[in-house]
Amino acid sequence: MKRIAILTSGGDAPGMNAAARAVTRKAIYEGMEVYGINYGYAGLVAGDIRKLEIADVGDIIQRGGTFLYSARYPEFATQEGQLKGIEQLKKFGIEGLVVIGGDGSYHGALALTKHGFPAVGIPGTIDNDIPGTDYTIGFDTAINTVLDAVDKIRDTATSHVRTFVIEVMGRNAGDIALWAGVAGGADVIVVPEQEFDMKEVATKIAEGRERGKKHCLIMLAEGVMPGHEFAEKLSEHGDFHERVSVLGHIVRGGSPTARDRVLASKFGGKAVDLLKEGKGGLCVGIRNEEIVAADIVDTLENGKHKPDMSLYTLNQEISL
Ligand code: ADP
Ligand code: F6P
Repeated sequence: MKRIAILTSGGDAPGMNAAARAVTRKAIYEGMEVYGINYGYAGLVAGDIRKLEIADVGDIIQRGGTFLYSARYPEFATQEGQLKGIEQLKKFGIEGLVVIGGDGSYHGALALTKHGFPAVGIPGTIDNDIPGTDYTIGFDTAINTVLDAVDKIRDTATSHVRTFVIEVMGRNAGDIALWAGVAGGADVIVVPEQEFDMKEVATKIAEGRERGKKHCLIMLAEGVMPGHEFAEKLSEHGDFHERVSVLGHIVRGGSPTARDRVLASKFGGKAVDLLKEGKGGLCVGIRNEEIVAADIVDTLENGKHKPDMSLYTLNQEISL
C-alpha cells in the first residue's frame, strides 16, 4: 500500500493526536503517503481530506482532543453513506484507512471492510469499553483526571462532613468509576455491571459516620443513573448531607498521560505495519501488555468488553 488515510471519530479522547502522529510519521518513514480526514466519517463523505506532512503532526503529541476533529455522523450507518465514503477515498487514490475511535467508529470500519475497502481500527475512547483490547487510548488520562477531582472533593467533603456522589462518564461501562474509585479511596463504587442495594449503601455511610469518619465518597458511573437521582434516592434512607458533583466532559480533555501517549504511539505504528502488508479488516489492541491485531468482524460480533470486576470486590473489602 502506498497511500493511506486517518480519521478520528466519535467521542474524542486524550492521546488521539499521539496516535495520528504515530500513524503519519511511521507511514512516511515507510515511504507511504498519508492523508488526514477532518470530522470523522462526516468529513470522509464530504471529501474534507488533505495530505499530511511530517510537520503537520508536530507539536500535537502533548495535546488533548484531536487535530483532525471528530463528529457523530449517523448517516454513515447507511449503505449510501458508506459507498459515498469509498468513492471519496478512491478519488484521492487512498488504498487503506486507519480509524481511531470507539466501538461505533469500529462499526464504520467494519462496514468499509465488508465493502472490500481495507480499514484498521485503533481503540480511542475514555470509556475503555472496546472488545479486543485491555485498554483504550484516553482511559488512563481520564482516570487520572477523575482522581485529581476526587482528591479535591475529599478535602471539602471532610471539612463539612459531607457525602459526595461523584458522577463520571463511561457510557454503559463502569471502568472509569472502578479504577478511579479504587485509586481515590471511594467508600462505595456503583457501576452498571453490578447490582446494588441503596439500603446497604446508606448503612455503610452511617457506620462510617459512627466510627467518626468525616467524608464519604460515592463513585457513580453515569450508566447507572444520574448523580442527582442517586442522591435523592439515598436521602430516602437518612440525612447524609449529600452533595453531587458531575464531572462530565472535563474528564475527556487535557494533556494525555505518558501511558496514553506510549500506547497511542504503539497502536499507530502497528496499524501502519498492517496496512503496509496490505492487511485490513483488523483492529489493534493491547492484551497482557502485548500489542495485538484481531479480526474486526470477529471482535465486534463475538467480543465482549468486561471491566475488571476484581476492583469492585477489592474496594468492598478495603473501603470498610
Ligand atoms: P464511538 O466511536 O466513540 O463509539 P459513536 O457511537 O458516536 O462513537 O460512533 C461514531 C461514528 O461511527 C458515528 O457517528 C457514525 O458515523 C459511525 N458509526 C456508528 N455506528 C455505525 C454503524 N453501525 N455503521 C457504520 N458507521 C457507524
Ligand atoms: O464515549 C465517550 C463519552 O464521553 C461517554 O463517556 C459519554 O457517555 C458520551 O461520550 C458523551 O457524549 P457527548 O460528548 O456526545 O455528549
